[in-house]
Amino acid sequence: MDTIETLHAMEILDSRGRPTVRATCRLASGATGTASVPSGASTGKAEALELRDGETGRYNGLGCRKAVANVNGEIRSVVSGQGFETQEGLDAALCELDGTPNKARLGANAVLAVSIAYARAVAAHRVVPLYKHLAHIRRVPPDTLPRPTINLFSGGKHAGGQVSIQDVLIVPTSVVSIEEALAMASEVYRRAAERCAKRYDMRLLRADEGGMAPPFKNTEEMLLEAVESILVAGLEPGRHVSLAIDVASSHFHNVGTYTLDGEKLSANGMIERIAKWVEQHPIVSVEDGLAENDWDHWPRLRDAIGGKALVLGDDLLCTNPERIRKAADKRAADALLLKVNQIGTLSEAAEAMRLAREANWKVTVSARSGETEDDWLADLAVGWGGDQIKIGSITQSDRLSKYNRLLEIEDETSLPLVWWPNR
Ligand code: PGA
Ligand code: ZN
Repeated sequence: MDTIETLHAMEILDSRGRPTVRATCRLASGATGTASVPSGASTGKAEALELRDGETGRYNGLGCRKAVANVNGEIRSVVSGQGFETQEGLDAALCELDGTPNKARLGANAVLAVSIAYARAVAAHRVVPLYKHLAHIRRVPPDTLPRPTINLFSGGKHAGGQVSIQDVLIVPTSVVSIEEALAMASEVYRRAAERCAKRYDMRLLRADEGGMAPPFKNTEEMLLEAVESILVAGLEPGRHVSLAIDVASSHFHNVGTYTLDGEKLSANGMIERIAKWVEQHPIVSVEDGLAENDWDHWPRLRDAIGGKALVLGDDLLCTNPERIRKAADKRAADALLLKVNQIGTLSEAAEAMRLAREANWKVTVSARSGETEDDWLADLAVGWGGDQIKIGSITQSDRLSKYNRLLEIEDETSLPLVWWPNR
């Protein structure tokens, strides 16, 4: 393996206009790789720490100059001139240098930018596309492309909180290619926009991930509107297009009570409500149906909807191998939402993925609500054989860079989409 000649990081802005970290890694051979890290808004408590400057007069405290300085100082001086046999070798060195359980010292934003920039540099050195190199790291060649789950409506922390739940996504279930999936999603999105304009007399305003956020009365109305939009597009809900939801319920949960669209529900009440939604609508995936630390009730949610819809853990799992082991033992979920920046290095995320597969779970590879134009997520979802990919809506360049990269990979490989769901 080639040695690292140098690293260079800088502060750039993400899709919300907030600072984030971009790093470039240069190998002695001259091969280079650059990567930018995303950032969440509805974050899980167990996520690795994103280092922010906390300087109130500058970007409201969200500056990343300390994280950038950590790459250009300490990290650079330790890794420059070193050759790592594997990605794991570099990532282990970064974790050791940080020395905390959650990257609190150097910052997960600093560490992840280096981890991915290095993978890109090595891919360039090997003269292979990033997805092939990432597949090589996991030692499993990809034979499918991930099925897109595409944000249609937003609520919760990504919009004005007009409804409690965060996302209603459409899942083109009958199509066999990315290209067809995007064309179908575009048709539904367009119809939904027309209906919202008429019904709510509103211009097409978009939430953080590009979803529409009209003033729905409640979640029920949001789901019905999604089903209607599919019908008006001339498609059959459940056959051509299904739905996925991100309840993101940690963010409306407080000491045992869920305040769903103003209504107070117990955990059991919440499970009953979700089971009813799954019964009444063509929902194939339910993310964070319960709060991140409601471990006792997650197995009951899985009993109630498992086999009909995926019981997908985001805040619950935080792409954290320890939490995934615990959830697998408790039968608390049956699918992992994989967000690399929740854990901070590619190798730890690969371990999270391996554990999910070992538990026979499905995996949705996910972007964050704050994204950049970088498209590595598409390569990662293909290279690691994700079942689904969650990027956001089919608007805004921060989202489209990933969809366009998927189209490019599809064009190059002609791989088929993962067949899903079984319903
Ligand atoms: P986040 O949202 O990136 O703001 O955490 C995405 C999600 O909850 O899935
Ligand atoms: Zn989520």
